[in-house]
Amino acid sequence: MDSNVAVQCIDLYREFEDGRRIIKVLRGTDLAVNRGEFVAIVGASGSGKTTLLNLIGGLDRPTAGEIIVNGVEITKLNDEDMSEMRRHNIGVLFQDQHLLPIFSAIENVQVPMLLDEVRAKERYGRAIKLLEAVGVDHRAHHMPHELSGGMRSRVALARALANNPTVLLCDEPTGDLDHKTGGEIIKLMRDLAKGENRAVITVTHDPETARMADRILLLRDGQLVDELIGEFFRASGVDVESRPSDTVRDQKDTAVEG
Ligand SMILES: Nc1ncnc2c1ncn2[C@@H]1O[C@H](COP(=O)(O)OP(=O)(O)OP(=O)(O)O)[C@@H](O)[C@H]1O
Ligand SMILES: [Mg+2]
Repeated sequence: MDSNVAVQCIDLYREFEDGRRIIKVLRGTDLAVNRGEFVAIVGASGSGKTTLLNLIGGLDRPTAGEIIVNGVEITKLNDEDMSEMRRHNIGVLFQDQHLLPIFSAIENVQVPMLLDEVRAKERYGRAIKLLEAVGVDHRAHHMPHELSGGMRSRVALARALANNPTVLLCDEPTGDLDHKTGGEIIKLMRDLAKGENRAVITVTHDPETARMADRILLLRDGQLVDELIGEFFRASGVDVESRPSDTVRDQKDTAVEG
């Protein structure tokens, strides 16, 4: 297999049993994402976007099909090997994954490293670097409730990157954020794909987010397609074909220290 491919899904099926009904969510989904690539997945509510991310992240198992992450067919792993694989290869940024309220920003970032027995001093140093990378190192010792929504998202992003994952999975990462802050987070995610050679896959409802991506895929009828994107976004009046890289400028935190 091409070693540049970080994630590959082949003929993926996921069905749920709901009482006597069977809900067929994914029906032969194929996907390949390279390292260094930033891919956006869009689709109607209930089309299976979160289901797909959960499968790629090893949090759920498919009814049929293969998922290969970093050359390992994860569908064949037992639970223990699966969590090991997840810990070393996958970072997740899901909207409902809140920071732990009793820990400061820098402590939250260190949580994933605790499992890996990274030495305390090294752990701290890495956490500071990650907070620097996402632009909130000046708030390292603040508690989550003392941070703005955008800052909390940045800390969560730093935490998702704590174990240096090859694959970063994001589910509506900018859902709660205002337009400007959301744009900054997306730009960070894109830089993380490019600069650090990660595969970044984000689910979004937001056309502005989607058009920052290298590729936009639409999940429809259980399959990923790239032809119908224009149709999907037409209602929002956004031209997703043009993807100016300068739509979101680098902006520093404007809060005044005092
Ligand atoms: N554990 C489950 N048991 C039963 N049905 C499920 C389960 N998880 C998801 N589903 C069903 O699968 C379908 C897809 O759900 P999913 O959460 O993947 O959608 P989504 O595309 O992420 O939607 P949204 O944009 O609203 O977040 C829905 O019909 C949902 O009810
Ligand atoms: Mg969802």
